Amino acid sequence: MRDSIVLYLNGKRHELRGEPCFATVSDFLRYEKNLRGTKVVCAEGDCGACTVLVARLTGDSLGPYEPINSCISFVYLADRSHLITVEGLRGSSEALHPAQKAMIECNGAQCGYCTPGFVCSLAGLTDSTKSENKGLSEKRVKNALTGNLCRCTGYEAIIKAGCSIPLDAAPKLSSLYDDSLIARDLRQLSGSVEILSNEQSVFLPETADQAVQYINRYPDTRVISGSTDLGVLSNKGKLKLKRLMNLNALRESYEIKEEPDYWNVGAKASLTRIEKALEKDFSEFSKYLNVFASPQIKNAASLAGNIINASPIADSIPFLRVAESELVLKSIQGERMVNINSFIQGGYKKLDLRPGELLIRIRIPKTSARFKLFKVSIRKDLDISTVTFAARYSISKGVIQTFSLAFGGVGPSVLRMSKLEQMAVGQKLEANLFKAMAKMLKQEITPLSDVRGSADYRHQLCHNLLLKFYDEVARQFEPDAELSI
Ligand SMILES: Cc1cc2nc3c(=O)[nH]c(=O)nc-3n(C[C@H](O)[C@H](O)[C@H](O)COP(=O)(O)OP(=O)(O)OC[C@H]3O[C@@H](n4cnc5c(N)ncnc54)[C@H](O)[C@@H]3O)c2cc1C
Ligand code: FES
Ligand code: FES
Repeated sequence: MRDSIVLYLNGKRHELRGEPCFATVSDFLRYEKNLRGTKVVCAEGDCGACTVLVARLTGDSLGPYEPINSCISFVYLADRSHLITVEGLRGSSEALHPAQKAMIECNGAQCGYCTPGFVCSLAGLTDSTKSENKGLSEKRVKNALTGNLCRCTGYEAIIKAGCSIPLDAAPKLSSLYDDSLIARDLRQLSGSVEILSNEQSVFLPETADQAVQYINRYPDTRVISGSTDLGVLSNKGKLKLKRLMNLNALRESYEIKEEPDYWNVGAKASLTRIEKALEKDFSEFSKYLNVFASPQIKNAASLAGNIINASPIADSIPFLRVAESELVLKSIQGERMVNINSFIQGGYKKLDLRPGELLIRIRIPKTSARFKLFKVSIRKDLDISTVTFAARYSISKGVIQTFSLAFGGVGPSVLRMSKLEQMAVGQKLEANLFKAMAKMLKQEITPLSDVRGSADYRHQLCHNLLLKFYDEVARQFEPDAELSI
C-alpha cells in the first residue's frame, strides 16, 4: 500500500506524505509552492478566482484538462493527476497562452484579482472546443464562464476576449508538458493509498471490496467524492473531516455504461460526463444539468454526492425519483439494490443507508415515457433552486397513460406526489384536471419561508409549474390551441 500522494504540477512531479496532503489545493499552491497566481476569494466554490486545470488518470492516459475550484478540493483528491495553474499555462513556446493574450488585447482585466481564474476557464474551454471541432460562440463562452465572477471589469470585455481566442494558434493543453511521460509514470502507481496525519486520515481503495472492508473496520469513515459539498462545510468550519475515503483510485466508479435496459452511472462519475453521456436517452435531464452549478463544480461533483447529501433542493433527485432509479449499495454482506423512492424516507436527510454501506452506482432505467424538468432559482446560472419540478408522463389519444411527479424545495425532502399522480392517470389531458390538481397540491406540500422565497411564494410557484407543465405538454399535441388556464 502506498503512503504518499503523487501528482504533477505544471509538468513537475511531486510526492507528498502526511499533513500537506490534507491542505486545500489552493493553499498548497499558494503557501507550499508559492504559486500565488491562484487566488482565493469566497472559499466556497462560488467565484472561480481559484480555478486551476486538472487532468486525471482515469484509464491508461490522462483525461481532458478541466477547470475545478481549487479552494474546495484537497491535495489527496489530486493523486495521479496533472494540475496546470495560470503560471503553467503557455503558448507553443514560452509565450503567453492565447487565452492570456486575448484578455490583454480586449482589456479583460482591471484589478486583475479574478483574471487568473478566467484565464484558466478560457484555456479549458479552448481545449474542449478544439477537441469537439466546434467554434467559440458567445453562448459557449458565457456557459464556460458561469463559475467566474468579476467585480470591476464588466463581462463584455471578458466575453469578447473569450470569443476572440484563435483556436488554430492555441496549443492542446496535453502538448504543453509531456503528457505521455506523465501518464506512464502515474500508471505505475498501482495499489491502494493510505495517508495519515495527526488529526486526519484518508484511504483510497483500488477495489470495491477493499472499500467496504475499510468502512466495516472503521464505521466512522466519511466518503468524500468531488468534495463540492464537504469542501464548503470544511472551509466554513462546520465539519471536521477526520477519517475519509475517496474512490478516485477505483476504476469502476468512473464508468458510465449503457446496458440494453438502463444506464449504469458509477459513484465517482462527474456531472459533466453524465450530462454528455445521458444526452441521447435523457435529453431533458442533460439540458437541466446545464443550469446545475458551474463547469468547475460539475467537473468535480458526482451524482452519488448529490443523492447522499439529500438536500430537499438537490437538483438531480426530482428526476431520479420520477425515473424510478435504482441505487446499488455495497457492504461486506454484498450488494443490494434499492429504488430511490424508498431510499429517501421522508424527513430531513433521512435515508435508507445502513452502517457500512457505500453507494457504488446508480441505475437509470430507459423508458419510452417523456420527461419535463423545471428549476426555479433567483439567478439562472450558478444558483441554488427555490423550487424544482420533475414529471415523467406518457399520453395516448389525449389520455394520460402514466404520470409521475416530484417537487423539491417544498418539504423536508424531495417529494413524490402520489395523490396527484393517481388523480391524473386515465384522465384526459385538460386544463380543468390540472387546475384541480393544483388545488390539491396545496395540501400536499409544506414549504418553508427562507431567503430564497416565502412559503406563499413557493405555493404559488408549484401551482404555476403544474399549469406550465400542462401548457407545454398540451402544445406538443395542439401547437395552436387556445389554452384556458
Ligand atoms: C458553488 C456551488 C454550487 C452548487 N450548485 C448546485 C446546484 O445547482 N444544484 C445542486 O443540486 N447542488 C449544487 N451544489 C451542491 C453540490 O455540488 C452537489 O450536491 C454535488 O452533487 C455533490 O457531489 P460531490 O461529489 O461533490 O459530493 P461530496 O461533497 O464529496 O459528498 C457529499 C455527500 O455525499 C456523501 N457521499 C459521496 N459519495 C458517496 C458514496 N459513494 N457513498 C456514500 N456516501 C457518499 C458524502 O459523505 C457527503 O455526505 C453546489 C455546490 C457549490 C459549492
Ligand atoms: S475562491 Fe471562490 S471559488 Fe474558490
Ligand atoms: S478585474 Fe477586478 S475583479 Fe475582475
